[in-house]
Amino acid sequence: MDLKSKIDIENLPKHIAVIMDGNGRWAKKKGNQRIFGHKNGVKAVRDSVEGAAELGIQFLTLYAFSTENWNRPKQEVDALMSLLIATINSETDTLLKNNVRLLTIGNIDGLPKKVSKNLNELINKTSQNTGLSLVLALNYSARWEIINAVKEIIKENNNTSIDINSIDNEFFEGFLNTKNIPDPDLLIRTSGEYRISNFLIWQIAYSELYFTETLWPDFRRENLYEAIIDYQKRERRFGKISEQLN
Ligand code: IPE
Ligand code: IPE
Ligand code: MG
Repeated sequence: MDLKSKIDIENLPKHIAVIMDGNGRWAKKKGNQRIFGHKNGVKAVRDSVEGAAELGIQFLTLYAFSTENWNRPKQEVDALMSLLIATINSETDTLLKNNVRLLTIGNIDGLPKKVSKNLNELINKTSQNTGLSLVLALNYSARWEIINAVKEIIKENNNTSIDINSIDNEFFEGFLNTKNIPDPDLLIRTSGEYRISNFLIWQIAYSELYFTETLWPDFRRENLYEAIIDYQKRERRFGKISEQLN
């Protein structure tokens, strides 16, 4: 039986988030420059997006560039930004063909102009698509997002005194970049690293975590299937006990 047919279509994660890691090590293992790994990571993105769209996953969030990644050597950061622009252009057809809607989270205004311009064009081009929502996390970090939410709340309530009792989870989520996006059901990290690296820390409070040794450029839809099959074996109790679940 092939992997795909082992997936229970009735119990799909609505939202899968991925920390795409291991590009540099993949390239190094092949005796190449780190950027060679990033370039090959695009193939993994394409296959995962197509695989997720075909399955009927509603949201796929990919961590593509963290606020901490600015601390890498300038040459690598520049190469990543150029690759981002090239990828936006080369993958436009893939997104349109697969009915994918593009969204972003992160400080998009803090990206080079050319990147944000190209991104916004693609967001507009795909805004009417009704299939998978692909969320790119760019210049993103969860702590930035949370601090930003606090600033937004204060800005919005500048002239009115805020009723402290009205602050609950739902209220706060309305100020996060992920407002209108459900929390991830499944979080995948590749490359055998077991950490969160400032990704969606509010939203993954109850996500199922899946770690794989596979380096991101080797990741294909079959690896996504494996993660989903593993997810479907989990019992999500949300604080309750087994007997309370139906
Ligand atoms: C992930 O791969 C891509 C980005 C963070 C942009 P890395 O570049 O982190 O690759 P490793 O972890 O050094 O192998
Ligand atoms: C996390 O990967 C960020 C992205 C995948 C974009 P890193 O490779 O930057 O994470 P750390 O620094 O090793 O934790
Ligand atoms: Mg890494």
